[in-house]
Amino acid sequence: MLEILSKIKKISTAFESDKRNVSNADEFEVLKNTFIGRKGLVASLFKELSSIPVDKKREIGADINNLKSSIEQSLKKMDFKKDQGINRDIDFTLPGTPYTSGRLHPLTIVTNEIKEIFNRIGFSPVFGPEVDTDYYNFEALNIPKDHPARDMQDTFYINSELLLRTHTSSTQIHYMENNQPPLRIISPGRVYRNEDISVKSYCLFHQIEGLYVDQNVSFADLKSTLNYFAKTMFGNDVKVRFRPSFFPFTEPSAEMDIYWGLETEADHRVTKGTGWLEILGCGMVDPNVFKSVGFDTKKWKGFAFGMGIERIAMIKYGISDIRKFYEGNIKFLEQFKI
Ligand code: PHE
Repeated sequence: MLEILSKIKKISTAFESDKRNVSNADEFEVLKNTFIGRKGLVASLFKELSSIPVDKKREIGADINNLKSSIEQSLKKMDFKKDQGINRDIDFTLPGTPYTSGRLHPLTIVTNEIKEIFNRIGFSPVFGPEVDTDYYNFEALNIPKDHPARDMQDTFYINSELLLRTHTSSTQIHYMENNQPPLRIISPGRVYRNEDISVKSYCLFHQIEGLYVDQNVSFADLKSTLNYFAKTMFGNDVKVRFRPSFFPFTEPSAEMDIYWGLETEADHRVTKGTGWLEILGCGMVDPNVFKSVGFDTKKWKGFAFGMGIERIAMIKYGISDIRKFYEGNIKFLEQFKI
């Protein structure tokens, strides 16, 4: 009888010292089995209880139960779980969630490319305001209030003086007012026109203005600059044509077309059945424009051009509807890589 009491004590002390050496889930399992497992030390005490005289059974039985529950309490506090550290709810063999990154808008890609092409021949980018006055958008560009050429560009007026610029040519004036020739600039930006919306026209679009001012500048310089641009942008096989045109701020003036093709119905629609797409207006700066910014018209000559970025992007990527650029359709936009 005494023997069993000292065994209870020994097991209790052994447990207290063994538990201090447990540092992982496997060791914890061993500890648990050794003491309270089916064939463990506490179980063997219960077996011995059968040979204890009846009058002591209750008391000693209670002691063993106390030992068992104190061991259980201790084990609970230790809380080592099997496979600790591995979350079985996660399947590590599954592919991860794809991370979608943003892209540049096709118009940004094309604008950057055009800027780069002109940068190589010394044109630096400058910027002008989108909300401007009648003076910068029209009058200083040799388009007086009653000039019929105002009909060429249906204007969004904010009030009788302020408007949304109809072209980037207004930036030429801002720049020339603050800088002296020689000048070589390009100016990208958004412009607005109150036009009927169609496959090739929208109420807003983007232009890049170019301005070159120096002594002895000729129309041949203008043509060779724009030919260089077309070849660099579209490849050496590009077909280009210049057509005489009219702009109040250039004299003589021209428009440049790029051959688009004339095979599909869309080709007919985009090119009005000609196969050619106009991408820019250009010409030699009219002396009246130089006068409005105070440049000596005897000394300085210049050329200017303004190209439609959407049109160029349409040719580059084969897009036959200008409205696609503004719809924000992810499926469309995702196709463009730099
Ligand atoms: N500003 C003209 C337009 O928007 C284009 C142009 C620019 C023409 C410079 C000649 C010179 O149509």
